[in-house]
Amino acid sequence: MAEPTRLVIRRPDDWHVHVRDGAMLEAVAGFTARQFARAIVMPNLDPPITTAGAASAYRERIRAALPGSDFTALMTCYLTDSADPRELASGFESGVFAAAKLYPAHATTNSAFGVTAVRNIRPALEAMQGIGMPLLVHGEVTDPDVDVFDREKVFVERVFAPLVRDFPGLKTVFEHVSTKEACDFVLGSGPNVAATVTPHHLAINRNAMFAGGFRPHSYCLPVAKREEHRLAVRRAATSGSPKFFLGTDSAPHVVERKQSACGCAGIFNAPFALESYAAAFEEEGALDRLEAFASENGARFYGSPLNEGRIVLERVAVAVPDTVAGPGDGLVPFHAGETLEWRFAGAE
Ligand code: NCD
Ligand code: ZN
Repeated sequence: MAEPTRLVIRRPDDWHVHVRDGAMLEAVAGFTARQFARAIVMPNLDPPITTAGAASAYRERIRAALPGSDFTALMTCYLTDSADPRELASGFESGVFAAAKLYPAHATTNSAFGVTAVRNIRPALEAMQGIGMPLLVHGEVTDPDVDVFDREKVFVERVFAPLVRDFPGLKTVFEHVSTKEACDFVLGSGPNVAATVTPHHLAINRNAMFAGGFRPHSYCLPVAKREEHRLAVRRAATSGSPKFFLGTDSAPHVVERKQSACGCAGIFNAPFALESYAAAFEEEGALDRLEAFASENGARFYGSPLNEGRIVLERVAVAVPDTVAGPGDGLVPFHAGETLEWRFAGAE
């Protein structure tokens, strides 16, 4: 059969993105709004978004950065040890919060105020379970005795499995799965447990960080793992299971903060996100499953309507630039310097 040259799919959503604030927001928001109708916006600003008031002000700044766009920013609440169940519930019920995010304290960028133990947020989780508010989880333990490559696997055993057992009615999303253990856990759980998958965890394994020298632009959290884990994440994402959906985890940092003695974690994949997913799905012989993954599974999990419009991907080579404009010395996009085979061509 001839290879397809054009793919028309329902307009997709990004269920996990960092669009930052200020000059960085101005530089990056358009990339996400160009490809996606809606996105779950992460709350790890400095200071983090912990109240509905702060979230709605942030949503206004995102709107202001995207004049003329019909993009919808879905806001999240950053959970702290002192998370207030009433604030969460009223923020969710008034339509400001779409979900709340659990960052284990010190797990990643701006997580100093994160949760030190799940028992501290039990009242918040009970409230969320009662009202159907999803919990989004950064699934890594921060115990310094645990090898950095094992942090997700150990989180599944020590934190996530007990949490799912104790809150069987809570909708939980294991964000940016990077291991076979996390994929297997999600696959083996009930319909309340789902996962997002990034383009980079489909594309690279940990060797990418050390290819001929240290490669800071392939460094993110959770860190890319061994090849067997990348393959497991690919199998899960392309399996057709409704539990896996698109969440880019696009996490821009200016070049000088990536290329530094203590470089920030984060891969900026928003400019060519759909191109990257299409490449991975095609390599797995699963282009026919891209639409459900990108445009249906996430919305169904969140209980949101499916988008109405359609977008087009064409088999046209795209050269990914070395840098894109941004604050400071600019931003290095994921796949910089590579050529991708599918091109996002806008609305149908
Ligand atoms: C994210 C960031 O920079 O905000 N970084 C990353 O490597 N993914 C934080 C996160 O989601 O862990
Ligand atoms: Zn993230």
